[in-house]
Amino acid sequence: MGNCKGGPWVGGPLPHGRGSVTGAGAGGKKGDGGWCVGAMHGWGAMAMVLVAMLAVAAFAQQQEAPPVRAFTPGAPVTQPIPYSHEKHLAMGLKCAQCHKNADPGESMGLPATALCMGCHQTIAKEKAPIQALAKFHAEKRAVPWERVYQIPSYVFFSHRAHLKMGATCEVCHGKVAERAVLFREKDISMGACMDCHRREKAPNDCQFCHENR
Ligand code: HEC
Ligand code: HEC
Ligand code: HEC
Ligand code: HEC
Ligand code: HEC
Repeated sequence: MGNCKGGPWVGGPLPHGRGSVTGAGAGGKKGDGGWCVGAMHGWGAMAMVLVAMLAVAAFAQQQEAPPVRAFTPGAPVTQPIPYSHEKHLAMGLKCAQCHKNADPGESMGLPATALCMGCHQTIAKEKAPIQALAKFHAEKRAVPWERVYQIPSYVFFSHRAHLKMGATCEVCHGKVAERAVLFREKDISMGACMDCHRREKAPNDCQFCHENR
């Protein structure tokens, strides 16, 4: 191995930088497990090219299975209003009453203050958090909820497609109905997405989840 002396570099680890998937970081590093070609002549070079092509094929396979990053659950997320899923779901409310999956079905959405005020116009209206809620509502402002689960905009994802194939909320978000405060308790990293796609025989080509920029 070692350094390439003028020959092109092929193979080696997946360049895994931040930003554009096909832009920044492409090309890899020379000498970290790749093959050098062109430094020889005749049959030797041919053989090297063949070996290199095999290495490329192996690399392409490797791309199907990038190393899964270790997952650690996030800390409880502090919200501007201490809304509790546990408390409200115990009253018999359903996920779909607040998370509507409007067309085209990518997002689940968050409820408007009007929905909350349907009850809180009267219920617990003397309490400070409900007064804060009523103020957002009166000013026609959305509550600035802190996001718990979010993926970068260069990744395609559709809730509707996944609900159709039978995935439950719990698979990707954990036991929400038992949580007074939400935290990121399930892994929604690329590795986790690809694990399930592999299990369920859904496609795992880069372009399936990423823009082809
Ligand atoms: C079906 C009626 C209903 C809806 C809809 C509803 N709540 Fe509640 N909420 C309640 C009840 C009942 C309580 C318990 C009140 C108590 O303990 O005194 C409560 C308690 C709360 C509390 C705790 C108040 C406190 O300090 O004790 C907050 C905060 C709250 N709700 C926020 C919200 C928000 C935000 C929404 C909309 C996303 C919402 N609620 C929608 C009925 C509702
Ligand atoms: C009464 C309305 C209401 C109901 C019913 C409700 N939610 Fe929520 N949900 C909210 C509000 C308000 C937030 C934002 C505050 C928070 O994160 O706790 C939220 C946030 C979430 C988030 C985090 C979104 C993000 O990325 O920031 C998930 C996941 C979620 N809810 C799942 C569920 C599931 C699953 C159910 C049914 C078991 C459910 N919710 C029922 C109101 C509701
Ligand atoms: C296959 C995994 C998966 C399943 C199943 C799933 N979610 Fe999500 N959820 C995600 C991902 C990924 C995001 C982040 C989306 C983004 O940032 O664009 C998210 C975001 C959310 C949000 C924040 C608002 C939004 O749409 O971005 C809410 C609320 C939510 N999910 C609720 C639910 C509920 C309720 C269910 C069940 C009916 C559910 N999810 C099922 C993966 C899933
Ligand atoms: C629980 C298993 C599971 C998880 C987790 C999962 N997927 Fe999927 N996904 C599937 C299956 C199965 C399909 C194929 C559904 C079909 O046949 O239409 C699919 C389809 C898709 C599609 C095509 C949707 C469409 O409109 O047809 C995209 C894009 C996608 N997944 C992205 C993701 C991303 C990004 C994540 C992680 C945030 C993820 N998936 C997590 C099982 C999963
Ligand atoms: C099933 C969906 C899915 C497929 C298939 C997929 N990705 Fe991703 N990718 C994601 C998600 C979700 C993220 C953002 C979350 C994360 O960083 O783990 C991401 C992030 C990335 C990032 C940014 C990583 C970072 O550390 O910031 C790169 C680069 C990337 N993907 C490249 C690829 C390449 C190359 C392939 C083909 C081998 C691929 N992806 C296939 C879902 C997917």
